[in-house]
Amino acid sequence: MSEQQTHVDNVCEASGKIIAACGALKPRIAIILGSGLSGLAKRIENPVTLSYGDLPGFPVLTVAGHVGELLIGKLNGVPVIVLNGRKHFYETSDAYPLKTMIRSVKAAGAETLFLSNAAGSLRPPIKVSELMLITDHINFLGLNPLVGPNDEAFGPRFVPVTDAWDKELGAKVKAVAKQNGITLHEGVYVAFRGPSFETPAEIRMAQGWGADAVGMSSVPDCLIARHCGMKVVGVSCITNMGAGLSDEKLSHAHTLENAARGAGAFERLVTAAVKVL
Ligand code: HPA
Repeated sequence: MSEQQTHVDNVCEASGKIIAACGALKPRIAIILGSGLSGLAKRIENPVTLSYGDLPGFPVLTVAGHVGELLIGKLNGVPVIVLNGRKHFYETSDAYPLKTMIRSVKAAGAETLFLSNAAGSLRPPIKVSELMLITDHINFLGLNPLVGPNDEAFGPRFVPVTDAWDKELGAKVKAVAKQNGITLHEGVYVAFRGPSFETPAEIRMAQGWGADAVGMSSVPDCLIARHCGMKVVGVSCITNMGAGLSDEKLSHAHTLENAARGAGAFERLVTAAVKVL
């Protein structure tokens, strides 16, 4: 069987399991939790939990801070699907696990994908442990998850991404942040492939390109979701200044530690935002 046919079969089977687990709930929002942000999962009321291992084609996770569970339940009274953990393109060039996750939740009825990640700031006013609404992105991964045979059943070959990050939903998240006294910057997210952090020269280059935050994720997720017609909104939790912009030493442990510092505001923001999205 071709890789693509296996993928289609996986999406059918995984979405069937998700729909069955939803029971009477009809979640329209799926949330992907980034590095160090998995605490939001604890806020889900009466969650039904599916391990990624039980969902065909879902990723097998290896990175600390990424759990590998899909939760279904209510957040602030709103039915949601939470994808707690994902695979990055520094781990694999295989986009199928991420495609399976996103297309399965779409097939299970989710229309909006809320993305989150840990990121480095490229602008001093955007400080460590603060949040940034992603208004646009730069794909510097060197790959696009939509490369390869296109299955028209999921979406078109050529995807316009002029409006990749939904303006209307972004405005709603901004309003919620304001109402709740949460600092929410906005800006452009640039994805580097990693796994090495950037050099100071690369950070200066990204600043010159107009990027405001740097990370190693979310861009593929956004492209896959837009391809299959989902709306996308996303927030970065700033865990450090970009390389060379401060004296701090970058490490994954440092990212997780500082993500924990911003996680409270992140959780409050998403909890309040799902009510209005
Ligand atoms: N660079 C890339 N990815 C990151 C960073 C960074 O500075 N911080 C958190 N994720």
